Amino acid sequence: MAQITKNQIFNTKKVVYLLLAVTAISSVVVSFRTDAFNGVPKDDKTKPPVAKEEAGEADSVISKKAFLQAYKVLMHPRCMNCHPTGDRPLQGDDSHIHTMNVQRGEDGKGLYAMKCSNCHQPQNTPGLHMPPGNPNWHLPPADMKMVFQGKTPRQLAMTMLNKNENGHKDHEALIEHVSKDSLVGSGWDPAEGLAHLPMTRAEFVKHFKTWLDKGAYLPDK
Ligand code: HEC
Ligand code: HEC
Repeated sequence: MAQITKNQIFNTKKVVYLLLAVTAISSVVVSFRTDAFNGVPKDDKTKPPVAKEEAGEADSVISKKAFLQAYKVLMHPRCMNCHPTGDRPLQGDDSHIHTMNVQRGEDGKGLYAMKCSNCHQPQNTPGLHMPPGNPNWHLPPADMKMVFQGKTPRQLAMTMLNKNENGHKDHEALIEHVSKDSLVGSGWDPAEGLAHLPMTRAEFVKHFKTWLDKGAYLPDK
């Protein structure tokens, strides 16, 4: 009996020493790893993964913010003057209705003899209050007016995404249009004396693309 008890005590001591040794070694290993990775153990599986929102901004937030940036360009007179609610283009930095009773017409190129190309030449005509130019200067057609004027960011985003209002464009075609279309480009080449757009075309395209790529979220208002 006494022998067994002695053995048991001895065995228990062995286990305790062994545990102490394991604890000491593992704490050295952990502190080494912690130092090596600047306080953050590399494969620490005990912490839950950081939520996307905490790490940065959610896609919805990034997307909406990007549209609000693009909106500054879309609603600027250099763009909006060709995207009016009515059937007459707008003019100038105050977006007043185009003088001389110029009208949209079915194809957006003017009504009867008042064709846009009568006055709007392939290039800007030099001088103040002269017509800006482009070989293809015209409004969107009567059956697809692509109205920007008067729209809130949310409303304009909805228009942009609606294929029955945007000229049947998917995301790719929209990006293609804003990056390459020459009428869009004309916004960055205003007639003399008119305000310039608030950012470069590359910046505008970047915001527009971010809006779509991050999920094409609608701004709240
Ligand atoms: C001279 C008139 C004119 C100007 C200036 C103009 N646009 Fe347009 N825009 C048009 C016409 C016409 C269309 C339709 C052409 C088409 O779909 O191919 C159009 C279509 C669009 C579309 C696609 C339709 C939609 O509603 O999504 C976008 C986006 C657009 N324009 C953005 C701009 C931006 C941005 C600017 C300024 C940097 C601008 N436009 C300046 C005439 C103009
Ligand atoms: C009879 C000549 C004439 C005709 C026709 C004409 N325009 Fe103009 N347009 C002008 C003149 C001149 C200006 C510059 C006015 C100013 O700056 O005071 C102008 C300015 C504009 C502007 C303002 C550009 C800006 O950046 O603010 C737009 C948009 C425009 N025209 C669209 C059209 C469209 C679209 C048509 C055809 C449907 C058309 N115009 C037909 C003479 C004309």
